[in-house]
Amino acid sequence: MRLFSRITGTGSYVPPRRLTNADLAAQLAAQGVETSDEWIVERTGIRNRHFADDGVFSSDLALHAARNALEAAGRTAQDIDLIIVATSTPDMVFPSTACILQSKLGAAGGAAFDVQAVCSGFIYALSVADAMIRVGSATKALVVGAEVFSRLLDFQDRTTCVLFGDGAGAVVLEASEQPGILATDLHADGKHVGILCTPGHVANGHILGDPLLKMDGQAVFKLAVGVLEDAARAVLAKAGKTEADIDCLVPHQANLRIIQSTARKLKMPMDKVVVTVDLHGNTSAASIPLALDHGVRSGRIQAGQTALLEGVGGGFTWGAVLLTL
Ligand code: UT7
Repeated sequence: MRLFSRITGTGSYVPPRRLTNADLAAQLAAQGVETSDEWIVERTGIRNRHFADDGVFSSDLALHAARNALEAAGRTAQDIDLIIVATSTPDMVFPSTACILQSKLGAAGGAAFDVQAVCSGFIYALSVADAMIRVGSATKALVVGAEVFSRLLDFQDRTTCVLFGDGAGAVVLEASEQPGILATDLHADGKHVGILCTPGHVANGHILGDPLLKMDGQAVFKLAVGVLEDAARAVLAKAGKTEADIDCLVPHQANLRIIQSTARKLKMPMDKVVVTVDLHGNTSAASIPLALDHGVRSGRIQAGQTALLEGVGGGFTWGAVLLTL
């Protein structure tokens, strides 16, 4: 008998402090940085973002999202034998945020580790969990994307600080005889490290280099629209499916224009696309599971439907997961 992995519950969480574009513009104006709601909406589709308060970490956001997903799946933390957290804003250099989350959930003994693929992190983490379940090394996994990207932002740089927010999303992925995840497709091209990075590092008790996010937005934009189409076509081909088989597209939420361009290329009307970029901004590894949970809880994605999840981000990394819910 062939073994598959299947999502049995989704969850998400954003911290309560919400900033509209106008709130952020007013805050930036006080520091001499000029932006506007009009510019942000027109270029990105973002209207709001949530920022975690000082002292709140990725593991705290992950904990809320994980509890949500466990409840939806009808499972407890004790049932879980694998935790993977996708994050580029871990609580500590080490140990992993997944281990910290495991302890906060009151569980122990299962495998727990982080995956770092920036905005593609959740797609990478879900693909790894799927592979581990299919070979029998885990039976019930918690796969989380959690970020406090606000901590990396340079609030003097208007080209990046208006784009990102904090949040977490999670799924419970279980071994199943019924197909859930149909195919996965992962890629990276390390020669583009410099177009989206936070280049600082810790050495000898100091932060060396720049610990704030840097992005060449136009270079990222151009690469993103190309690779998202490639990943979608590759994962469909692996699963023996076509565009017509997709009921719902759950893309990384970085920019509404990128999302619309991908939908156009896949000939998907926007009512089949989950869009949350207006609500949360770009939450990096959290953006796809946040959007997935939003789609499920709003009834946009129904049980039995086929969803295409796809992400792109720093590295440069990209990938897609095709699944039946
Ligand atoms: O999660 C990883 C994936 N990340 C992404 O997908 C991001 C991809 N890139 C983008 O989404 C877009 O490139 C941005 C939203 C970052 C920028 O949009 P753009 O249409 O490429 O704008 P631009 O960089 O060409 O800038 C246009 C103008 C510039 O002014 P000038 O030189 O034309 O006078 C910028 O200085 O907009 C100016 N500008 C701003 N104005 C007001 C840049 N940021 C702002 C701002 N407010 N926040």
